Amino acid sequence: MSAVVVFDSNYGNTERVAEAIAAGIGGATTVSVARLDPANLQADLLVVGSPINGWRPTAAMQKFLAGFGAAQLAGTRAAAFDTRVRLFIHGDAAGKISRALENAGATIVARPRGFIVKGTEGPLLDGELEAATAWGRSIAAEVARTA
Ligand SMILES: Cc1cc2nc3c(=O)[nH]c(=O)nc-3n(C[C@H](O)[C@H](O)[C@H](O)COP(=O)(O)O)c2cc1C
Repeated sequence: MSAVVVFDSNYGNTERVAEAIAAGIGGATTVSVARLDPANLQADLLVVGSPINGWRPTAAMQKFLAGFGAAQLAGTRAAAFDTRVRLFIHGDAAGKISRALENAGATIVARPRGFIVKGTEGPLLDGELEAATAWGRSIAAEVARTA
């Protein structure tokens, strides 16, 4: 199974989560959204994550998601995550990313997942990297189960 974890990150926290998820999946590649053209994306499993910035994914991530053609992700399994501060009202990026992937034809294999940072620049809350690796492991298991 080929797997790619695409992320955006201002301060490195979402990048660290992406790498932890990739380790859990096993053998997944991580790539910054700035370096990726959606037209060139080929993977059996695509995991996409962004910090929440102003209640939504970053501008670069929104542009990336808008670049998918209709049904371009047909046959691709996908999941989405975000990083966020723990506020009563924090908005959402993972759900919006998940819907965009689904609208591009992907089959969503996990509920959108948020990982918590202690402040705007981080660090991540204790245990979140371990939780990210476990989440990646569970996604890989779900993909294997439904292969
Ligand atoms: C301009 C800006 C807007 C933000 N808006 C939100 C928000 O609406 N909700 C939230 O939970 N966190 C918000 N944050 C905090 C980010 O979620 C946090 O900076 C991010 O998770 C850190 O990840 P990164 O190091 O990968 O950028 C915002 C941060 C910035 C810089």
